[in-house]
Amino acid sequence: MIFHKIIRNIVIIYSKNIIIYILMTKFANKIIIMRKLLIIYVNVNLYQLMQQANQSDSTPQNPFALLTQAPPDPIFGIMNAYKADPSDKKIDLGVGAYRTDEEKPYIFDVVKRVEQEIINDITLNKEYLPIEGLPDFNKGCQRLLFGKDNPLLESGRIVTAQCLGGTGALRVGFDFVKRHLAGDVYVSNPTWSNHNQILDRTGLNQINYPYYDPKTKGFNCTATLDCLSQAKEGSIVLLHVCAHNPTGVDPTEAEWLQIAEVCKTRNLLPFFDCAYQGFASGCIEKDAFAVRKFAELGFQMIVAYSFSKNMGLYNERVGALHIVTSSQEIAAKVLSNLKIVIRTLYSCPPAIGGRIASRILCNEKYYKEWVEELNTVTGRIIRMRTLLKDELDKLNVEGNWDHITKQTGFFTFTGLTPEQCDQLTKEHHVYLLRSGRMSMAGITSKNVAQLAEAIKIVVQNK
Ligand SMILES: Cc1ncc(COP(=O)(O)O)c(C=O)c1O
Repeated sequence: MIFHKIIRNIVIIYSKNIIIYILMTKFANKIIIMRKLLIIYVNVNLYQLMQQANQSDSTPQNPFALLTQAPPDPIFGIMNAYKADPSDKKIDLGVGAYRTDEEKPYIFDVVKRVEQEIINDITLNKEYLPIEGLPDFNKGCQRLLFGKDNPLLESGRIVTAQCLGGTGALRVGFDFVKRHLAGDVYVSNPTWSNHNQILDRTGLNQINYPYYDPKTKGFNCTATLDCLSQAKEGSIVLLHVCAHNPTGVDPTEAEWLQIAEVCKTRNLLPFFDCAYQGFASGCIEKDAFAVRKFAELGFQMIVAYSFSKNMGLYNERVGALHIVTSSQEIAAKVLSNLKIVIRTLYSCPPAIGGRIASRILCNEKYYKEWVEELNTVTGRIIRMRTLLKDELDKLNVEGNWDHITKQTGFFTFTGLTPEQCDQLTKEHHVYLLRSGRMSMAGITSKNVAQLAEAIKIVVQNK
């Protein structure tokens, strides 16, 4: 079989190269050097193609030969390029992780203390946690997201499972959807790139709704509503609760009501992604508006939650999946099936991060400290928005930069083209996504002027 393929490829290669050779020789018109170069070209080409032919089939002896090189993850790729750059002027606006004004990673003070307390706690052991995670953690997450006085909490209608960060919650949630529900998944255009990958891997059909308007650099509510009003009943709509990634553009409270209306009319199931509670407005309660409003309106829904950003627990992988059902009986059935999804993916969650979050959420004093600290952290990002806009205005950089202070959360969708972003990286050591997404957490009072100068240059060069 492989032998036949090689012979066939050799025949194709020879025919192709002989034609090229004849054509080129005609034009090279007896120039000897040209002919020699042509012979080398043909042979190199032939050698490469033969190698490809040899590798084009997997065999029991070479089982991975059919794999092709996959592209690197865009965000982790930028992180690595930034680390490898020796320049002391480099600015990291790629990854959505908080940095101090000294460009250092930040550990919440309350997190450090609670972690130490847990390490010193001799009553704890390393036995497996329940499949759905720590009960106190799950209750604390429900209070945080839905509000501590929400009647839903006592109703027994919410199923909650501790998951491996927001990504883990999304994956468990969409695996559950794929197995137990039917329907297309509507995804904002653009969205966090891992949403598309996760949906792809779970085998769900994705349809874009036109979320972002490049003209206004804001939310295109009319187009979103038009698109969703044509969705098939039973479809699932993936919605960012706040601080939309990558655009930093969120619906207003009035627009959320319109989205709720169309979801109700078309019987669409909301699947919320909540990765930035506290980072949009600086207020935990305000940032939960969409989920709480949909709950109040009687929606059943799914929510994937992440503590990576708002507790700075990035590498501890702490998140939760909530499924709001219509009754306690149905909740029990949902939980039983959810547990099978989790058991087959990673069995049960790790303990340390969940314990930290749980102690903070369940202890009034720690909770208060965390909320205050979160507010300080968010305040720095909001100040950097104003600083950057002021610098750009001061330098008279062409265009309108109002969207920098209008957009919220970690990211600004700058409107810079991929070529301008490339130029920022190559010539000015500024690392950001080619979509023009900038992580505002990487801006500091020390690098903001240099950044504005660099933006001015690339904008002038367009
Ligand atoms: C929109 C969105 N959802 C989910 C996540 C996942 O977060 P985690 O790091 O907890 O997996 C992120 C992280 O960047 C995000 O931006």
